[in-house]
Amino acid sequence: MNPSTPTPEAAPTGERKWIIAVAAAISILAIAAIALYPVWRAKPGGSASLVGGPFELQGPDGRVVTDADMKGQPFLVYFGYTNCPDVCPTTLAEISDVLARLPGKPIRALFITIDPERDTAASLKDYVASFDPRIIGLSGDRAAIDKVERAYRVYARKGPPENGGYAMDHSSIVYLMDAQGRFVEAFNLERKPEESAKELEGYL
Ligand code: NI
Repeated sequence: MNPSTPTPEAAPTGERKWIIAVAAAISILAIAAIALYPVWRAKPGGSASLVGGPFELQGPDGRVVTDADMKGQPFLVYFGYTNCPDVCPTTLAEISDVLARLPGKPIRALFITIDPERDTAASLKDYVASFDPRIIGLSGDRAAIDKVERAYRVYARKGPPENGGYAMDHSSIVYLMDAQGRFVEAFNLERKPEESAKELEGYL
């Protein structure tokens, strides 16, 4: 045995384990708070918006969709993935409920995948077909997705293998962007769709 090997520490006692668990939980919360703080703090149309920015992604039918294509009308942005068991389909259904209150209005919503390895532009197109037609599914190569995730300060991480696939752990924020493509706020869907629709209409 190598004599310089440090003596292993005694196994943590019950109390120490507890302290370690609490410290770990506090660190995780602190990191999440630091990462998400600018999303909540950013002021509409601030000179240097901390959320959002240029992107170039793959849209339906081989179309390239960029931030420039979104200029002129307000839009929503949501990040998720088609294999999501609950949060993503629920959120897209809520967005659809809001858009249903704005018939014919040129407000679009982008559903940007955080799982481009499985979600192609074509599979996203099929997936969003069950929601409002103004919801556009976007994919891209890993570098393009990483870039847009960073710009919107998205948290997304691949979970452990399960049922022959994997789940993604991810933040779930609907970003409201104004007609100039500037971040306005984390859009509130926790109210009646009519109220959310009324607010959106104010940005037209
Ligand atoms: Ni999801």
